[in-house]
Amino acid sequence: MRYLFFSCLGLSLFFLSCSSPVEHSESESTATSISAVLAEDPHSFSNPNEARVEHLDLDVLVDFENRIIQGSATYEMKRADDSTSISFDTEGLIIHGVFDQDQEVLTYDLKDPKGHLGRELHIELKDNTSKIKIDYETTAGAKALQWLDSEQTAGKEHPFLFTQSQAILARSWLPCQDSPGIRYTYNATVRVPEGMLALMSAENPTEVDSSGVYTFVMDQPIPSYLMAMSVGNLVFEEVGAHTGVYAEPELIEASAWEFAEMEEMLVAAEELYGAYAWERYDLIVLPPSFPFGGMENPRLTFATPTILAGDRSLTALVAHELAHSWSGNLVTNSTWNDFWLNEGFTVYFERRIMEAVKGREYSEMLSQLGFQDLLHTIEDLGEDHRDTHLKLELENRDPDDGMTDIAYEKGYFFLRMLEEHFGRERFDSFLKNYFTTNAFEVMDTEFFLALLQEELDIDDDTYGSLLIDAWVYGPGIPENCPIVESNRFELVMAELNQFMLGVRSAYELEVDDWTTHEWLHFIRSIPMSINVEQVKTLDEEFGFTSSGNSEILAAWFQVTIRSDYTNADARMEQFLIEVGRRKFLTPTYRALLEKDGNPERALEIYRKARPNYHSVSRITVDELLGYTI
Ligand code: BES
Ligand code: ZN
Repeated sequence: MRYLFFSCLGLSLFFLSCSSPVEHSESESTATSISAVLAEDPHSFSNPNEARVEHLDLDVLVDFENRIIQGSATYEMKRADDSTSISFDTEGLIIHGVFDQDQEVLTYDLKDPKGHLGRELHIELKDNTSKIKIDYETTAGAKALQWLDSEQTAGKEHPFLFTQSQAILARSWLPCQDSPGIRYTYNATVRVPEGMLALMSAENPTEVDSSGVYTFVMDQPIPSYLMAMSVGNLVFEEVGAHTGVYAEPELIEASAWEFAEMEEMLVAAEELYGAYAWERYDLIVLPPSFPFGGMENPRLTFATPTILAGDRSLTALVAHELAHSWSGNLVTNSTWNDFWLNEGFTVYFERRIMEAVKGREYSEMLSQLGFQDLLHTIEDLGEDHRDTHLKLELENRDPDDGMTDIAYEKGYFFLRMLEEHFGRERFDSFLKNYFTTNAFEVMDTEFFLALLQEELDIDDDTYGSLLIDAWVYGPGIPENCPIVESNRFELVMAELNQFMLGVRSAYELEVDDWTTHEWLHFIRSIPMSINVEQVKTLDEEFGFTSSGNSEILAAWFQVTIRSDYTNADARMEQFLIEVGRRKFLTPTYRALLEKDGNPERALEIYRKARPNYHSVSRITVDELLGYTI
């Protein structure tokens, strides 16, 4: 296996001058006998340059009654000659014992908890230790896990479990070296109650096994943040030759219809940046408490049901998670400080897929909405805020705190600026080569910039004039940010202005061929000065409050809350209770807070809604509202 050197531009450039940019022989490594050197990860206790896992055998029981996962994780590892210990990350795990390949007991120390990092599991190695078996169980409050009662599912008859491991939550459901640079293959045996289907980020079954025992094989090495499991009353439906959908039976038909373009997206993606490395691409529609829109678990994207709009208008999210099969899952950010390499590239790739499938006009609307998100994020954080740099500094912080739209949208516009400067053909061939050459490797910002300079022949003058350092190591939006123009959005603005000026009433507006994205632009652009009567008229004409489209609803609540339009309150409350997707929760609770000047109304709803939320959303909203139990 080949590895990169990181964090040292000089070294990177040295290797770039070799025949193949990222290749160097083992003798060039400074490690004693291990073949690669990984950068320090401030969010992991693991010691990969001494001992690094390479394969996992997971054997667990999913106990719905006690809401725990219990069993063993057996790791094969690679050791440096002088290695004496291996460290794992854990959070809230009970460790029952640690054994070697001969079932001999190994000495270990589960160190004191260190805030969001959890506890280091430090294991002494004997000279001949080649495998480590850790017997463990999870505890209540395991941050990655959400155990749902049957009432919280579509079918209301079976409980449900899903995991969310990114960024550093995998350690709460299995002991692991939880750093994005450490990849391993895995096999798993998972026991679940009879009648339920278990799925992982691996080769998956498509039918319930009456034994309740499922075995999984994941032959491609992945980092811990992509470990995933979901258990529930689930069925499968094929979409294309390499694509399919899992959902509860009540949602399978709607889901297969909504995502019918998956295969086409996969073909478009391969056409752009090379062969899909993971064999199948399936998607599972989770219950509405899933805290994200989507999560790119390899072979099996986890998705929120809030993208089931009934008109395929929110499927860019599928393109996004699919794109991660290259950016993120194949070429992986070295640490969370390089998160933009995962997300910025993915947004760029997502929009290229959508352009291929739906046309430029469509993808330009996505880009314009993305630019609006970027402006809001910069306004929220403050123009000079450190977290508006692409390269983050998350040491001593929960990585989740730095994961904003900056990585996504500033990252996107940076790559688009490069595309516009070098031309699509050159930039695409650079990207394709980037994914191929660095597949199953880690990448950091400095190495990426060195590659970029080398492969696109960027001299110092050009490097300076493209403001590359300002994009990556500076705040805000550099002045050469590409400008997105959308005729369709201009027409939307013209209609909105006519309405606001009273020139035309709501029913006179020309909206017949508008799509979800035009409506989103319309709602988002409604000025603060709108009065409650005007809001009422818009609602009566266009039925926003009763929309089945979650994006439209969430944008609309911004307007209704600010304008005191109380007719939408019941729908808003119901939405906040049912949906746990953080991207919708934060702005809605924040609007309530800002409107009222106190958290009372927000807290009243939150008390009812909180039991339905995953820890990821709870942590964010608790802090926003100053909630204490
Ligand atoms: N990998 C992210 C979700 C994530 C990010 C989880 C950081 C934990 C920490 C996923 O690919 C994502 O970006 N989801 C977005 C989708 C969107 C940009 C289309 C989401 O959930 O909103
Ligand atoms: Zn993403």
